[in-house]
Amino acid sequence: MDQIREQIEALRRQLHEHNYNYYVLSQPVISDQEFDRMMAELISLEKQYPEYADPNSPSVRVGSDINKSFTQVPHRYPMLSLQNTYSEGEVTEFYNRVKKSLNEDFDVVCELKYDGTSISLIYEEGRLTRAVTRGDGQKGDDVTANVRTIRNVPLILRGEQIPPYIEVRGEILLPWSSFDELNRERAAQEEPLFANPRNAASGTLKLQDSRLVASRRLESYVYYMLGESLPTESHFENMTLARRWGLNVSSAMKRCHTLEEVFDYLHYWERERRNLPVTTDGVVIKVDSLVQQRNLGNTSKFPRWAIAFKFNPERAVTTLKSVSWQVGRTGAVTPVANLEPVLLSGTTVKRASLYNEDAIEALDLHIGDKVYVEKGGEIIPKITGVDKEARSLPGSRVLFTPNCPDCGTPLVRNEDEAVHYCPNSEGCPPQIKGRIEHFVTRKAMDITIGPESISLLYDKGLIRDAADLYTLRFEDLARLERWGETSARNLLQSIERSKSVPYERVLYALGIRYVGETVARRLAHAFPQIDRLMDATEEELTAVEEIGGRIAQSVTAYFANPVNRAFVERLRAAGLQFTLSEEALAGRSEKLQGLTFVISGTFALHSRDEYKAMILQHGGKNSGSVSKKTDYILAGENMGPAKLEKAKKLGVKVIDEQTFLSMLR
Ligand code: IVH
Repeated sequence: MDQIREQIEALRRQLHEHNYNYYVLSQPVISDQEFDRMMAELISLEKQYPEYADPNSPSVRVGSDINKSFTQVPHRYPMLSLQNTYSEGEVTEFYNRVKKSLNEDFDVVCELKYDGTSISLIYEEGRLTRAVTRGDGQKGDDVTANVRTIRNVPLILRGEQIPPYIEVRGEILLPWSSFDELNRERAAQEEPLFANPRNAASGTLKLQDSRLVASRRLESYVYYMLGESLPTESHFENMTLARRWGLNVSSAMKRCHTLEEVFDYLHYWERERRNLPVTTDGVVIKVDSLVQQRNLGNTSKFPRWAIAFKFNPERAVTTLKSVSWQVGRTGAVTPVANLEPVLLSGTTVKRASLYNEDAIEALDLHIGDKVYVEKGGEIIPKITGVDKEARSLPGSRVLFTPNCPDCGTPLVRNEDEAVHYCPNSEGCPPQIKGRIEHFVTRKAMDITIGPESISLLYDKGLIRDAADLYTLRFEDLARLERWGETSARNLLQSIERSKSVPYERVLYALGIRYVGETVARRLAHAFPQIDRLMDATEEELTAVEEIGGRIAQSVTAYFANPVNRAFVERLRAAGLQFTLSEEALAGRSEKLQGLTFVISGTFALHSRDEYKAMILQHGGKNSGSVSKKTDYILAGENMGPAKLEKAKKLGVKVIDEQTFLSMLR
């Protein structure tokens, strides 16, 4: 008996932990499938042994995503979830159960199960009045302001038969392309990466700054309608109408009359989903008739008229050889698993992300373990579990390194952050080298020197930071192993040229946290002289368009540090630009005020970056993808055909370089 009790309690502990990883850290360490399996095991044990009931068991709680800073509002109709299955047999059982209890003819509707974050949209008199997250199913966060920024959520419905009050349920997603772009930016800023588009979508929806939300290109898909007076008694018909009203209803929705058709649908999308722009993790099968839905009713958690069939994620088993630690330019230390190479969805996987200490602990990882790696939706494969039974002689337990792997300094972990940092930013070689590498990148100072040479110059004691580049002497360089006079001359020339790099790029080169290219440009224009920026207060900074509290704090913290101020002074003494050029100042105009541009293709007269800068300088906006809000596409050679087609469809004007330049004259 005691053994059962222990088993139940262990499952609860683990599920609580996984809930936390999933909802709070947004960094799940096991697959959904594994989670569902554990939950099913717990539920079945609890049913069998009711004497061990616990009101706080994870089985009675649906993960909550409530955020203190949003207003909570109750759902008029609770947001239920769906019964999940991975087995086709259970789909058949579901179908037969429905058939038996209805005892009449029925249709089912098959839809894709979109893997994002769920949302409830309320339309009153055809106007979007509120958007609420799922929360705990009974009440959620009011995220209306953020949802209003999502391009394919209509603010006003158009057309006929629109009821005075409806709630539309759907999913908010971040398409793959935007997800990759977002993570690339985050990698460049050394911010932690989002594990998958779902976490990125839910994280984005909870941002305080809805402008930032808007920049991330979320999308919505709606799949359900509620209300007192719906237009028809068919789910399929209602969704078809919803599509006409302007809501984004997936075109993959299909009404089926037989179980065979249902399976055809499952098999078709199991393959085809790979070609979709967003993540899906299964198929939802719903009874079409609302009358029949009501007759079937709900359990406390699930409707009896629907089931979700989940696709199997692609997974492989391999051996954990070792764990290494990487130190980035901000000092963040990330664990990386080195694996016995294994083939997974067409690529060989040798390394996997381990995220942080909590993730490692949750896995109870030992060297030599047989581990499961998955690539379901992730860019970097991740370890989702350990085959503990295969562990005969466990290797040493993987513990988070207490000291910096490079400089030995004890690592620090902030209270409510999962990340470990090496605090020795002034003396830790990979941090210093990383900052220099950032300083010389093309979009920053554009100095032609690679990481190996930076490392060499650092190790030889010729540079201790980026400012030292400007004191390098020809004799020292030419003497270096395998360098010679040509390399030395080239580097010095490149360094010399960097002195004319404009102020905004110098600002970006400093590597201030959260100050990417665009932010640097904004700051340079708002504070055309570095001294003004160095003394700016947080209030002055946040007054600038697109500069939020997080950036403002980071900028003031950077300039509050005397080491950084001294660094700027040395760069200034070397002759770098710390004032917005006369041209940039004089060249500023409002000619493109209110216009949004998408740049696509390659150009002959200026680089893409130069065009981006020009657009900003003249008051316009840059955007990454074509939408109804796009005014112009600035098209070069080889513009993508998808973009061109979309532009045609939306009636967006496509202009070439010459036309663009003439707009500025
Ligand atoms: S119907 C009462 N349809 O899956 C029925 N849900 O596990 C409400 N989801 O909370 C759900 N695609 O966030 C439905 N085509 C679809 C869906 C879908 C994704 C999500 C939704 C729901 C969860 C249930």
